[in-house]
Amino acid sequence: MTAAGPVPEMADRAAACADRLREADRVLVASHIDADGLTSAAVAGAALERAGIPYEQVFEKQLDSEAIAGIAAREYDTVLFTDFGSGQLDDIADHEQAGDFTPIVADHHQPAEDADTEFHLNPLLFGINGAKELSGAGAAYVLARALGGEANTDLAATAVVGAVGDMQDSSGELHGANAALVEEGVEAGVLQEAKDLAVYGKQTRPLPKLLEYATDVFVPGISNSQSGAISFLDDLGIDVRDGDGEWKRWVDLSDEERQTVASGLVRHAVKRGVPARKIDRLVGTTYTLLAEPEGTELRDASEFSTLLNATARYERADVGLAVCLGDREAGLETARRLLREHRRNLSEGLQWVKRNGVTQEEHLQWFDAGDEIKETIVGIIAGMSMGASGVDRGKPIVAFAKESDEETKVSSRGTGSLVSQGLDLSAVMGEASAAVGGGGGGHDVAAGATIPAGTEAEFVEHANRIVGEQLG
Ligand code: C5P
Ligand code: C5P
Ligand code: ZN
Repeated sequence: MTAAGPVPEMADRAAACADRLREADRVLVASHIDADGLTSAAVAGAALERAGIPYEQVFEKQLDSEAIAGIAAREYDTVLFTDFGSGQLDDIADHEQAGDFTPIVADHHQPAEDADTEFHLNPLLFGINGAKELSGAGAAYVLARALGGEANTDLAATAVVGAVGDMQDSSGELHGANAALVEEGVEAGVLQEAKDLAVYGKQTRPLPKLLEYATDVFVPGISNSQSGAISFLDDLGIDVRDGDGEWKRWVDLSDEERQTVASGLVRHAVKRGVPARKIDRLVGTTYTLLAEPEGTELRDASEFSTLLNATARYERADVGLAVCLGDREAGLETARRLLREHRRNLSEGLQWVKRNGVTQEEHLQWFDAGDEIKETIVGIIAGMSMGASGVDRGKPIVAFAKESDEETKVSSRGTGSLVSQGLDLSAVMGEASAAVGGGGGGHDVAAGATIPAGTEAEFVEHANRIVGEQLG
């Protein structure tokens, strides 16, 4: 642990922002409705609480000028924006000038020009990648460390849930500034990192389902086949049921048994001709929240983040926030019910894309789900569909969903490899949406926009051209 905090490059700016908070009478924390936004708000809230600064929280689907005006109307002297705000700095600065509120922005989205202002805490201003190295919750954590010092290192666990929720571990592990956060969480005794099988659901899924549903790296004979998964485990001599006849989960296995399954899976994949680069992705780093009970969604950063998405993206950010802040009773129960519905929606959404297919343009591919997929999860589904058959991993994907009669939500997703070739979806969404009278932004690898209904075809033309220029 260093005196400068976990991310020394950001320490001075974080200290200046913390000073602003100390001068506040009452802070409104405004945040985004996804896992990273919720954990950003939870980290900021805990830090304010501990510093004795009164605060309240509000969540917005999108921070447009209407939302900012609504926030201003609540008459808090200080507003802390987390996990959004960088794309709306002009608007926010106007409110500051008008004396509406003193702003602080702790975000990681691509800012517009003139972003280097004293209240703006964003890794991108300090040479740190905002899509891979620090999330909104990470930026909030840097602020929390400046406000409360080492007493706040336990909040690193929550911040890591945000980073994982934003898929910043998509290379298999967290790195850069994120790794420094992990280190602080490990030192604080709230986090553990370990190389393990990189499949979703190690805490809660019954073993056969764990393998059956693990389709990111498709293993023929096991992925999508419950009987295949069971006979694979049988052949390895693994008891899939406990003494009471209940399915075991991954966490119920001994270290030795886990090793047996992991190496057995790799061997099986090799034998079935899965390419080496995909086999590498079967193993990754898992982040375990040590204060949470084993066998629950809360114990694993990835499962926790999905649980949070299942609340906030369905207008129930209050539930996710309560869980982040320690509710293990009614809040957790509601979150689990929402999680079941969220899973069903994701699975149905992905099926819809597979059934209806995507349209190929020269430089991108797209689908329009209309009102078949909820606009708050269409981005997740677009990302998931990148692995599906008929979808080309060599082009970014653009997805449309109905937002209202007047507006259409756009989501786009790329790959690390496309980004290294020059893809910047934040610029694509920003420019193409502006060209049709909308607005958007985000990150190089994942971005979104809102556009007037009926302008989708024109939007695709612009986006296709811009992607072509970036990759050309
Ligand atoms: O608004 P926010 O920054 O929190 O959202 C980031 C979005 O980018 C998430 O939906 C996340 O899943 C997506 N993402 C992605 N692939 C990456 C990094 C982020 O799809 N490699
Ligand atoms: O909504 P979606 O998951 O597709 O968003 C992808 C990324 O783009 C997120 O980081 C989100 O905050 C950002 N975004 C944005 N402006 C929009 C829509 C999305 O900055 N109008
Ligand atoms: Zn984020």
